[in-house]
Amino acid sequence: MKVVVLENADQAADRVSAEILEALQKKPDLVLGLATGSTPIGVYSRLIQAHQVGRVDFSRVTTFNLDEYLDLPPDHPQSYRFFMHKSLFSGLNIHPSKIHFPPTQGPDLPGQCERYEARIKDCGGIDIQLLGIGSNGHIGFNEPTSSLASRTRIKTLTEKTLRDNSRFYESLETQPQMAATMGIGTILEAKKILLQAFGIKKADAVRAAVEGPVSAFWPGSALQLHPDVSLYLDSESASKLSLLAYYRRVEQNQEYLRQRDSK
Ligand code: GLP
Repeated sequence: MKVVVLENADQAADRVSAEILEALQKKPDLVLGLATGSTPIGVYSRLIQAHQVGRVDFSRVTTFNLDEYLDLPPDHPQSYRFFMHKSLFSGLNIHPSKIHFPPTQGPDLPGQCERYEARIKDCGGIDIQLLGIGSNGHIGFNEPTSSLASRTRIKTLTEKTLRDNSRFYESLETQPQMAATMGIGTILEAKKILLQAFGIKKADAVRAAVEGPVSAFWPGSALQLHPDVSLYLDSESASKLSLLAYYRRVEQNQEYLRQRDSK
């Protein structure tokens, strides 16, 4: 795992958006796996900015979102489709037919989930998966004890996740208790994974993901099984890492290698 510790969320968003834009320049029909929550907002605003000044074209890009709440209509202000439209899609030129969300409405959800997986495969798989992490270690809505081999399916949210997200709702009763999410197995098939985490509330989840044993109880730890994962952290979310000084030194050495290569 590549652990990059930066001063703040803005620096992380600069690095992550630069990686995405560089990949898009090499592959105009990039397939992106996208996340919601407050964490990726800085990346999304930078992608919009790059598009609006004419630096990049998203017309051939395909997207797959990680998760969505069960039974919330797309125009519900708390739905992830609404969030994505507001924070990203409305500012880019992605064709609506190339935007995908895991199924949360209509009959035969298991069948629809299988078709979501098949659609990802038909598009050639996800090139870059963007991730945040829950304070309980969840990735997407793969809550603790999710199978490390899980695929897209409906999950019941834990009390902790409901509490973390309750700020968006007037009362617990109106908050969806279930969501569709890509599985951990689905996420691990992405070619490259970029995870961002900010703030002290994420420090335990980050420590478990990077330095803990691989365990279904801390879903982020499954990322240790993937060959190309980068974590972009601020100093607070990185503060419980026992090898923090080492990760900083690795980064400095990487920079040395980059400069050495360009000579
Ligand atoms: C949400 C989403 C996750 C997200 C996480 C962190 O519930 N399902 O995909 O990464 O929780 O959210 P935030 O970025 O707001 O801290």
